[in-house]
Amino acid sequence: MISLSEDIPINKELFGDDFAWGVSTAAFQIEGACDAEGKGASIWDVFVTRQGKIKSGHNAAVACDFYNQYQQDIDLVKQLNIPNFRFSLSWTRILPKGTGEINQAGIDYYNRIIDYCLQIGIEPWVTLYHWDLPHELELKGGWTNRESVGWFTNFVKIGAQYFGDRVKHWMVMNEPGVFTGAGYFLGIHAPGRTGLKNFLPAIHHVVLSIVAGAKQLRSSLPGAQIGTTFSCSFIEPQSHKPRDLAAAKRVDALLNRLFIEAISGYGYPLGDVPALKGITKYMLPGDEDHMKFEFDFIGVQNYTREIVKYSFFTPYISAALVKAEDRGVPLTEMKWEVYPAAIYQMIKKFSAYPEVKKLVITENGAAFPDAVTNGEVDDPLRMEYLQGHIGQVLRAKNEGYKADGYFVWTLTDNFEWAEGYHPRFGLIYIDFDTQQRIIKSSGRWFAAFLKV
Ligand code: GAL
Repeated sequence: MISLSEDIPINKELFGDDFAWGVSTAAFQIEGACDAEGKGASIWDVFVTRQGKIKSGHNAAVACDFYNQYQQDIDLVKQLNIPNFRFSLSWTRILPKGTGEINQAGIDYYNRIIDYCLQIGIEPWVTLYHWDLPHELELKGGWTNRESVGWFTNFVKIGAQYFGDRVKHWMVMNEPGVFTGAGYFLGIHAPGRTGLKNFLPAIHHVVLSIVAGAKQLRSSLPGAQIGTTFSCSFIEPQSHKPRDLAAAKRVDALLNRLFIEAISGYGYPLGDVPALKGITKYMLPGDEDHMKFEFDFIGVQNYTREIVKYSFFTPYISAALVKAEDRGVPLTEMKWEVYPAAIYQMIKKFSAYPEVKKLVITENGAAFPDAVTNGEVDDPLRMEYLQGHIGQVLRAKNEGYKADGYFVWTLTDNFEWAEGYHPRFGLIYIDFDTQQRIIKSSGRWFAAFLKV
């Protein structure tokens, strides 16, 4: 029986001094300044202009204006006592066309961010790719083109060259399962492509790119801590009927095992997801040797649990998610179930791979319908969500599983991809008309929790 999160009292000391506390962000969701100072267009800059793709027709041209307000926002990280700040590099700020000429203004901008973090005692954790592929490269096939491995490695090399003297923690990519699935199979994220013919080559080239990027980092920066992040959901079958159990196993393999197993040297879980078998068509002789890397840490990103049932009508996977809305469970604004023990289960699952040396929760958080009352934002549900999940991380750690850090998603409310600005995930509220920031009560709680 899984104990409830409220049962686990938490305080920072229980995690030890080496535990990394942080907050995570992503360039496209916060920066705005979408064409400032030589920046090229990314697939997301283009996708947001497509009719009906983003709720309420929102775009990220301004977003949180982090491009201009980064100092004020990093000051807020400091004010919340958060020692580690995770952000991503926008590829097209640095290489407007994806390859070729470097845009010095982009280099200068990230130098300012890194330097400012270090100046005020915050450790920068950098994600190289958080979904904003250069549009010019998408015109050449994007991740479906095998040349993407070379394009990406070149970008990684430049990142390492310019920032590696000060950045010690690197994450090669963010959630390959989400950007290939939503962007190249379902078409609900950029670049909006669909079907196995796009999904399968994208998966394989992304795996090769993660490994090639990681190797590049290792050779450029032998002392760096190199990681990459994975999305995951705790999967449970709706019943113990064999066909529900088998459906849950397929979904687990697709959502949770596909990328970690590939980059750990186990190959793709084709036995459990036969629909992926066509991927072998994109594999060239010798590729196995380029699909494995020993990461210093892996980032696990978990938000919820999913219940899975057999579904005759769902092509390829014959499985469907039982909507949390129909299950009478507590929900976030994203309609995701609030289920803190999911993060415990995921730590347990990922810890079990002997290849995983360190495991950092690089994202966890929740959107709730926050409102400003008398200049304040009181968000007890988010505070409860964070406390519950942090408690489950402690439970995993105490039981001897790997748990080396915890990063909240996210610092400020921001552009939540296809959902636009509606779901608010921040510890800090943003009024998007005025760009005013208000620390939510959850943010104040986190600051008190982290206080030394
Ligand atoms: C993750 C993603 C973030 C953020 C978060 C909340 O999948 O890495 O960019 O959007 O989910 O939905």
